[in-house]
Amino acid sequence: RNRRSADYRPDLRGDTHGDKFLHLGEGTRRRCNTRRQSDCGGDGACNGDNPCPLSASDSLTLLPRLGNGPKPPKIERASMSKAAIHYSFDHEHLLGIDGLHPLDLTHILDLANDYAEATRSGKRADPVLSGKTVVNLFFENSTRTMSSFEIAARRLGADVVSMPVAQSSVKKGETLIDTAMTLNAMKPDVLVVRHSASGGAKLLSRKVDCAVINAGDGTHEHPTQALLDALTIQRRIGRIEGLTVAICGDIANSRVARSNIHLLSTLGAKIRLVCPPTLLPADIQHMGVEVYTDMESGIADADIVMMLRLQTERMAGTETPSQREYFNLFGLNQDKLNRAAPRALIMHPGPMNRGVEIDSAIADDVEKSLIHIQVEMGVAARMACLEAISLGAL
Ligand code: CP
Repeated sequence: RNRRSADYRPDLRGDTHGDKFLHLGEGTRRRCNTRRQSDCGGDGACNGDNPCPLSASDSLTLLPRLGNGPKPPKIERASMSKAAIHYSFDHEHLLGIDGLHPLDLTHILDLANDYAEATRSGKRADPVLSGKTVVNLFFENSTRTMSSFEIAARRLGADVVSMPVAQSSVKKGETLIDTAMTLNAMKPDVLVVRHSASGGAKLLSRKVDCAVINAGDGTHEHPTQALLDALTIQRRIGRIEGLTVAICGDIANSRVARSNIHLLSTLGAKIRLVCPPTLLPADIQHMGVEVYTDMESGIADADIVMMLRLQTERMAGTETPSQREYFNLFGLNQDKLNRAAPRALIMHPGPMNRGVEIDSAIADDVEKSLIHIQVEMGVAARMACLEAISLGAL
């Protein structure tokens, strides 16, 4: 049923130009050796100068691992003699980037790129979710994510119900779980959940029968934002591996930062966090990132400068001085941007506060700012996630 799950062919060229971009690190270009021939069944199909598909998957172990380690996807080695990998997205829910295997990430990015291309060329997507029902359950405000999921699901032929919390029975005292169980009784296929509590989406995934996609849970993760960010970078620069990405601002309260750290570092980017010490997360030492507490050195020579909003709704009020002083120290303006790489690109997940974390002229610079492309890619990334989660684990 998943037209994309069979015979998934990694791009063993290791380059990023062309319509597929599976980046597995330097290891993708390694040559087969005797030991690996036996791994492949010794059929001789990957000896000599032929790149070995197993080195592609094996090489993933060289990449940084975060969290508890991702569950490997289903890969059938029987088909290796054809240099093909039978891959399927083998996850019931999409709760975070942490826990996804690099092949899962590249599978979704590949699919999302196809959808981005199709949309730009005016092609209609196949209605692969026809007959399925997607419910958006948002306990926190959203402009981009909720509308983007709604459009994505409709483009794939699904029936969609969007439920902003202001119109739900939560306002009448109903608990998160009771609301979710009520919707579950209506037999949706996918529940897209945003909640202010870290772990909210995971909690629901244990209570309902359908697939759950995390659309942002507290300060924990926002996986589809990171996927759309990665897609945006891939399409603009052609690669992620080897880039220096400076994530600047309110890191401590940012689920976007956390998901991007997992995703971009897994795909080979070097991540710098740039923020006042009061806005650093407590578990920073486990993240495999560089930390800077001043913008000038933090964004020096960076290829991507990703600005984050000050999430005052999650703050105690003592983390930053006045917004004016914060802008002077950590807001992105042309002076600071001049320190970055000459062709550095600017990103922001939105909603953005002009004059607080970013100067308007920078945000609106069509040459350097990817902010509107990020929103566009959000639909493609969410189409890919909905397809993978709905059809992939079969
Ligand atoms: N980036 C993001 O999550 O935006 P919304 O809060 O508008 O969904």
